[in-house]
Amino acid sequence: MSKLNWGMIGGGEGSQIGPAHRLGAQADGRFSFVAGALDHRPEEGRAYAARLGIAADRAYGDWTEMLTGEKGRDDRVDLVTVATPNATHFEIAKAFLENGFNVLCEKPMTMTVEEGEEIVRVAQKSGKICAVNYCYSAYPMVRQARAMVRAGEIGKVRLVVTNFSHGHHGDATDADNPRVRWRYDPKMAGVSGQFADCGIHALHMASFICDDEVTKLSADFASTIPSRELEDDAMVNFRMAGGTVGRLWTSSVAIGRQHGFDIQIFGETGGLRWASEQPNQLIYTPVGGRTQIIEKGEGGLHEDAQRLSRVSIAHPEGFPLAVANIYCDLADAIAGEIRDGLPGAEAGVRSMAAVHCAVASAKDNGAWMDARPPMFR
Ligand code: NAI
Repeated sequence: MSKLNWGMIGGGEGSQIGPAHRLGAQADGRFSFVAGALDHRPEEGRAYAARLGIAADRAYGDWTEMLTGEKGRDDRVDLVTVATPNATHFEIAKAFLENGFNVLCEKPMTMTVEEGEEIVRVAQKSGKICAVNYCYSAYPMVRQARAMVRAGEIGKVRLVVTNFSHGHHGDATDADNPRVRWRYDPKMAGVSGQFADCGIHALHMASFICDDEVTKLSADFASTIPSRELEDDAMVNFRMAGGTVGRLWTSSVAIGRQHGFDIQIFGETGGLRWASEQPNQLIYTPVGGRTQIIEKGEGGLHEDAQRLSRVSIAHPEGFPLAVANIYCDLADAIAGEIRDGLPGAEAGVRSMAAVHCAVASAKDNGAWMDARPPMFR
């Protein structure tokens, strides 16, 4: 199998998510990193790309230059990752899709529901892949949980409870630090702070494992540090199409919690629990039975979990390899084999609709509202 050509926009030196994409894309030898517009400062971006081994003529100063340069090449990139700040995702993803490139876009896919729907339409029209980096859904034991739910191993799901709460913005004396402040400033972050940043991972995970869609929700938002315009804490109750009850807490002021992403799924005949800080274990309790630990890499896992387990049992696999699983599924999809589970633009626009619905609900004292994008009602 020949390697695919890969390029990235954003993810420059010192960025948070850039290294996970570089490691993930190259982990399995399926992509070569050949092009990039890596930084909002053109010269820094070019210099960093050169240090990463990208040829000078493909170390671009900005994304428009990259689009023009790549369009004209026979060996153009097969996949472009958009890892820039949120407000830029829409125009970059749209432009590359319209010009026939496959795209992996960081979350949140867009700022508005209308933009999200536009991306879905453009991707459909172009026939190209637009995936969204809900990378937690690609951990092997999350795929195992989904496969167990699908196989009826915990019965019909009654309740899902999920948290994505950390304490890294809990220091009020650091609230004016520019790297923190923009996340709570509507001009930079959009309509939502913590829910759009972390809550949507948890909401996506609930839908993903339960294999069901969120239809309505009720939200309570709080800015516990008063100088913040946008919420730093949110509690969201939701319901899924199949009747599952959902509870979601997300916070950035939960001092003492580090990553704090976990999910519990309670069915009629059993329960499951997974936590991102112990990603190789899935905790399973059959009704009336003992709690068991299912380990990544052990025998008897569902195929979806087995194929994404890289190293043998008890050897840790972490975040970059979950991102690598997204890239493996993308490489397969580009080769024409669509893998179940790759989060697409539909997942991206569903998240945007949920974000805007939660903002409206919180402003209306938690009124229950339709959380679906208009195109899927
Ligand atoms: P960051 O601020 O650490 O880095 C952003 C990078 O993009 C910088 O290198 C900057 O120079 C570059 N950049 C900014 N504007 C650009 C432009 N117009 N063209 C080219 N490069 C540009 O941001 P971070 O935390 O890496 O987040 C980037 C995106 O990734 C965000 O949308 C964020 O929500 C998402 N993210 C996703 C995570 C996940 O788990 N899927 C985790 C962390 C971030």
